[in-house]
Amino acid sequence: MKQTLRAIRGMNDVVPPQTAHWQWLEKTIGTVLAGYGYREIRLPLVELTQVFSRSIGEVTDIVQKEMYTFTDRNGDSLTLRPEGTASCVRAVLEHGLLHQQAQRLWYRGAMFRHERPQKGRYRQFHQVGVEAFGYPGPDIDAEIILMTARLWRELGLGNLRLEINTLGTSEERRGYRDALTVYFAQHRERLDAESAARLERNPLRILDSKNPDMKTLNAGAPVLADHLGEESRAHFAGLRALLDAAGIAYEVNPHLVRGLDYYAKTVFEWITDELGAQGTVCAGGRYDGLVELMGGEPTPAIGFALGMERLLELIAANAAGETTEADCYVLSAGPELLGPAQAVAEQLRDALPGVRVICHCGGGSLKSQMKKADRAGAAVALILGPDEHVAGEITVKALRGETAQQRVPLAELAAAVRGLLGR
Ligand code: HAM
Repeated sequence: MKQTLRAIRGMNDVVPPQTAHWQWLEKTIGTVLAGYGYREIRLPLVELTQVFSRSIGEVTDIVQKEMYTFTDRNGDSLTLRPEGTASCVRAVLEHGLLHQQAQRLWYRGAMFRHERPQKGRYRQFHQVGVEAFGYPGPDIDAEIILMTARLWRELGLGNLRLEINTLGTSEERRGYRDALTVYFAQHRERLDAESAARLERNPLRILDSKNPDMKTLNAGAPVLADHLGEESRAHFAGLRALLDAAGIAYEVNPHLVRGLDYYAKTVFEWITDELGAQGTVCAGGRYDGLVELMGGEPTPAIGFALGMERLLELIAANAAGETTEADCYVLSAGPELLGPAQAVAEQLRDALPGVRVICHCGGGSLKSQMKKADRAGAAVALILGPDEHVAGEITVKALRGETAQQRVPLAELAAAVRGLLGR
């Protein structure tokens, strides 16, 4: 028996008609981001491993367990990007984009994490990421959140909730970390295995535990708010005031810690209850120390990433996008008319840019060609027979609706098609 090859677990093909939903989503997001002055940056899929280990943090799940890392033929350790922020910082430094200027940037594409695949969690997944560099105040934090809120409106998503928190500066976090270590060490017998391992390495991540048994213990843990300095408090209060002024509802979740080490001050997530455990469709925050950590001048920065698969699962029912193959389908009666039929199709593409024209390939009777036209979802069939050809005309037949079929001179074809397509 022949054995066919299959895609790797957790790495999915996107086939038509789903691709149309992706294109629609990408376009809608691109339009919203452009409306706030964000410009696209394109980044490689593969980077030196250090780009990620240095920025995301050596003791995070991503770096310790999830990266696709390999040695290339030169002996360099390379990694398929698990996220885009680190690459983006690497790129803006490499190209001097931060030289005395702020930047609003976005990128999109595949990210790779060796996680356990399940609904909403894949090993190759796609993000649209946004990064703003050079703005220290809470104004940009609020703008970014407003921008995501606008996006949900554009996408028709009404039931996402916003959680925000502040992680303070790294010094403030150090004090908090010590307090957490003391607290969890006192309750060591109540920690599950994963949390016990985190106690030594990164006690903040214990708060992120999804284990319901850990809930009560975590609820009683010290909160970072008690360890914040004046500036961090003022920043967070500034953000809250701007969100209140804009009428954006949010919940302060003191246990929102995020799984990447580069965050400081503001962090936020947009969450849905409709996707089960993988309900975060958008997540991000401020990372004021990262540019310096990666070798640049100290630069404030904030960003977020959207999980495209999760968004698409959420909007599956409402997702728009062109899911048919063609608007017009050109049929021809016999091999000697193939060339003239292709010329008609070319003429139509010249006259009506954006209209999708399929010229039938593969021969067959007019009846079988007509079946193909229907299956392609075309609204108009254009039939070239010997009589039409001699007369310099073509038969135009509407495949949806009641309009009667008619023969039109080729010179009037574009106008006739435009009329039937309503554009
Ligand atoms: P993240 O929280 O790791 O942040 O990922 C952002 C979003 O990507 C998640 O909320 C989720 O929607 C989606 N996502 C993550 N992992 C998977 C997966 N395995 N399968 C499907 N979707 C997934 C970051 O990546 C940061 N770089 C965001 C950021 C940008 N912070 C500042 N700037």
